[in-house]
Amino acid sequence: MGFRATYFFIFCAFFSQIGILSANHNEEKKQFVSNLISQMTLEEKVGQMTQLNINLVSKGSSIYQLDEPHELDKEKLKEAILKYHAGSFINCPGYAISQSQWLLIIKEIQEVATKESRLKIPIIYGVDAVHGANYLSNGVLFPHPIAQAATWDSSWARKVAEITAYETRSTGVSWNFSPTLDVMRQPLWVRSYETFGEDVLLAKAMGLAAVKGYEGNNLSSPTNVASCLKHFIGYSWPYSGKDRTTANLSEGIIREYLLPPFEEAIKAGAKSVMVNSADINGIPGLVNKKWLVNVLRNELGFEGIIVTDWADIYKLNEVHKTSPTLKHAVKSSIDAGVDMSMVPNDYKFSQLLIELVNEGEITEERIDKSVTRILNLKYDLGLFENPVTPNFEYSKVSSQEFEKVSYQVAAEGITLLKNQDNVLPLSINQNILVTGPMANSLSMVNGSWSRTWQGNDESKNLPEKLNILQAILKNSNKVSYVEGCGFDKASLNENWEIEVNKADVIIACLGEYPATEKPGDINDLTLSEVQLRYIEELNKFKKPIILLLVEGRPRIISRIEGLCSAVIQAYYPSEEGTMALSDILFGKVNPSGKLPYTYPRQTNNLTSYDYKESENIGTNFQSGAFNPQYEFGFGLSYTTFSYSNFKLIEEHVVDKEVLKFFVDVTNTGSVPGKEVVQLYISDLFASIAPPNKRLRAFEKLSLESGETKTVELAIEAKDLAFVGIENNWILEPGSFTAKIADQIINFEIN
Ligand code: BGC
Repeated sequence: MGFRATYFFIFCAFFSQIGILSANHNEEKKQFVSNLISQMTLEEKVGQMTQLNINLVSKGSSIYQLDEPHELDKEKLKEAILKYHAGSFINCPGYAISQSQWLLIIKEIQEVATKESRLKIPIIYGVDAVHGANYLSNGVLFPHPIAQAATWDSSWARKVAEITAYETRSTGVSWNFSPTLDVMRQPLWVRSYETFGEDVLLAKAMGLAAVKGYEGNNLSSPTNVASCLKHFIGYSWPYSGKDRTTANLSEGIIREYLLPPFEEAIKAGAKSVMVNSADINGIPGLVNKKWLVNVLRNELGFEGIIVTDWADIYKLNEVHKTSPTLKHAVKSSIDAGVDMSMVPNDYKFSQLLIELVNEGEITEERIDKSVTRILNLKYDLGLFENPVTPNFEYSKVSSQEFEKVSYQVAAEGITLLKNQDNVLPLSINQNILVTGPMANSLSMVNGSWSRTWQGNDESKNLPEKLNILQAILKNSNKVSYVEGCGFDKASLNENWEIEVNKADVIIACLGEYPATEKPGDINDLTLSEVQLRYIEELNKFKKPIILLLVEGRPRIISRIEGLCSAVIQAYYPSEEGTMALSDILFGKVNPSGKLPYTYPRQTNNLTSYDYKESENIGTNFQSGAFNPQYEFGFGLSYTTFSYSNFKLIEEHVVDKEVLKFFVDVTNTGSVPGKEVVQLYISDLFASIAPPNKRLRAFEKLSLESGETKTVELAIEAKDLAFVGIENNWILEPGSFTAKIADQIINFEIN
């Protein structure tokens, strides 16, 4: 790098400290990057578009069997960077490693890239830090995104992202494959817990907060990382419910229910997007020009990097069968706008891409566009100046301050779904039996993406952290434990009855084994048979049962729900959140989480809260077939709230006007509590069958016992628009109904 560029970086670093980037930043970047590209060979350019798995350059008998302790293989590394000019690496070497191990890896890689390579272009390294820096051995783990959404307070998603960015950057990694902005429209889908739930507005608010938290105002800051919006688009609505399978979706539905969170995040400047590995209506995400080029690039004006998901060019040939050859797959993905291919385990992508350019099938101009975007991001991250980490102390990694945030997120997200006869909170005088397969394990509360991909290797957990049983023991010493049953063993364990006899109350910790992607596919949403049977057996003892659900998607519990006095949805609360769970059980924390999805009652009735009336007609031809176990937005507290004085400042409004709704909320119980005020609006008639209602605004507030607050929720009339027959947003005049809790207002749009 020349004197001029070095000088410029120092200049930028100075201003970045006060959050003001030079107005010349973009101009300087343009010059710097185009100058670099003008010196690059085709091979060097294509290399930049190639993303490799760290295992490929690690010592071991195969990429699946790495040596212990982990070490990079210098020869393989040089081959990757100096021969194949790779521009990016990803992933952790099998499991989470320490900060110093990370820094060593990144340093070794960057030394080859920035000292030995001809043009000294730094590598960009990416990981999936999806609920905290989960591949840093002592990184603070947070409740998974679904539990963050259950707080209904986007400031938590922002704080989680800020801390995740801080801890991730401390390892030398500057690119995070998060947030998942897929809207959860298919509860069978294993990755439901990685989303911010089933509602568009809630997902949009949480996703935006996460992007702001990751990227901040200046990517070259030592505490920010580039975000990656996943997975564009339609991944979360597979018809079969299985991972990476077809979504049968109309353009209108995609635009109305799936696109808005991406659109919002892109407007906020998100730097990269990962493509859906599956297909929409048979068109794989990776070759879908309509969505990648027409919509993402041209309509939304996205200028960042489009990266494929894991090994997806191969899937075009081997799984989707839309490409008869790998070469065809490479060409189709580049034609559809892909900038970087997560190859990740060989060099065929770059070799075939070079051939395609040499044969005139792809222009070098097209390649230059992708390389420009990739180098732009490296420049924005300050990697040319600081390829490992910016100069910074990172004294807060794994700090109590960060752990406390994780505790608070859990405390605000964990959702009380049933509390018959106020069985909760518990008293420390009661004899408590803690039981079930989720009770005595850290992996079970952390879920997947926790120190390993699937998150189920107990040996990688930190022994000082508290599982559910241990957290309950912190609040009471009258606790006994027996596992009782496994996840899906045919029979119950032995000798559990003795412990039940001694107990006054039973906390049954049930749920689903952590999993992500294909390993988490299921054929039945119902909670496993053995767990259901266990509750039935426990019920014979006529003791109050508190069902504590630890799960990534709403597993059906209707067979046993009536046998339980209380039900708590803990999601995957994380090892910091177990104490919050315990504090909720004992009344030290008043629960305030609300479900970010509809909890179904039957496996074949997976209707979301914003169903259409046709989905609500029962076999008796009457309305009312929508009958979930618990509704979207539902969650109890140890206090009660009442609503009154619901007002709209204008009942007759015209397009572009603001609709201001006011409501008084009173805490009518005896303890302080937090309530989420949720404004739902129904469009009574529309040219496309209208949803029964849509969430249009929400706000979480704290109220002392007896206190009343007036809440104002303002929306614009255009927020009531929908995607019409022509696939564009329209606002039709007509009658609407607004509802907050039991308060209703009818109004007109003229
Ligand atoms: C997942 C992505 C993830 C990528 C890199 C894929 O299998 O679908 O969400 O970012 O792997 O680890």
